[in-house]
Amino acid sequence: MHIVNILGSPRKSGTSGRMARAFIETAVTYGATVTDYPLNTMQYRGCQGCEGCHTRSECCVLRDEVTPLLAALLTADIVVFSAPIYFGDTCGQFKSFFDRMWSLIVPDAGDDEPGSRLPPGKTAVLILTGFDAASANGAVVDRYTGHLEHFGFEVRSLIASGLRLQPNTDVDDHLQAAAALARELMRAG
Ligand SMILES: Cc1cc2nc3c(=O)[nH]c(=O)nc-3n(C[C@H](O)[C@H](O)[C@H](O)COP(=O)(O)O)c2cc1C
Repeated sequence: MHIVNILGSPRKSGTSGRMARAFIETAVTYGATVTDYPLNTMQYRGCQGCEGCHTRSECCVLRDEVTPLLAALLTADIVVFSAPIYFGDTCGQFKSFFDRMWSLIVPDAGDDEPGSRLPPGKTAVLILTGFDAASANGAVVDRYTGHLEHFGFEVRSLIASGLRLQPNTDVDDHLQAAAALARELMRAG
C-alpha cells in the first residue's frame, strides 16, 4: 500500500496535519509506505486554465513541484487530502493544488466512459478542519467529496469542528478516529 499524503495547512502543528499524521503513523505500522507533500513549503502555481492538459498533453503542462505530486496520484493506493477551511472553502494552498487536478479529468467523457485519468480502485481520506459547526461546513465537505468521487476515489472523510487557531489540546478523539480509519483501511487491504 502506498499513501500520498497531501498537507494543505500552513500550520505544521495544526489539527488537520496532526490528524493526517495519526492516520499515516498507524498505516505505517501495517507496512504502508508514504510520500509527504507539504504544500505550504512547495513552489507551484495554480491552474492557468490553458487547457494544455486537454489539447496538447495528457497531463498538466506546468512544470513545478506539483508535477511529481500529480504523477504520484496515478500509482497511489490511498491519498490523504487534508486542509483547514478558510472562508468557506479549503485554504488557498490546498485550493491552488486542487485546481491542478483539472488535468486529471477526461475531457468530453461520455456517460459510459470514465471521467478520470486516474486508475480506479483508490481511496481518498478527506480531512477538513474548521471553527464553525459541522452543519455550517457541510457544503464544502459535500463539494470536495463529490469532486473526489468524480476522480474515481472512494471517499472516507474525517471532519473536525470547533477548532480555533490557538493550539488545540482536546483533539484526541479526532486523532483516534484517524488512527481507527487507518486500521480499517489497512486491514481491508
Ligand atoms: C483565513 C482564515 C479563514 C477561516 N475561515 C473559516 C471558515 O470559513 N469556517 C471555519 O469553520 N473556520 C474558519 N477558520 C478557522 C480554521 O479553519 C480552523 O481554525 C482550523 O481548525 C485550522 O486548521 P489547522 O489547525 O489544520 O491549520 C479560518 C481561519 C483562517 C486563518
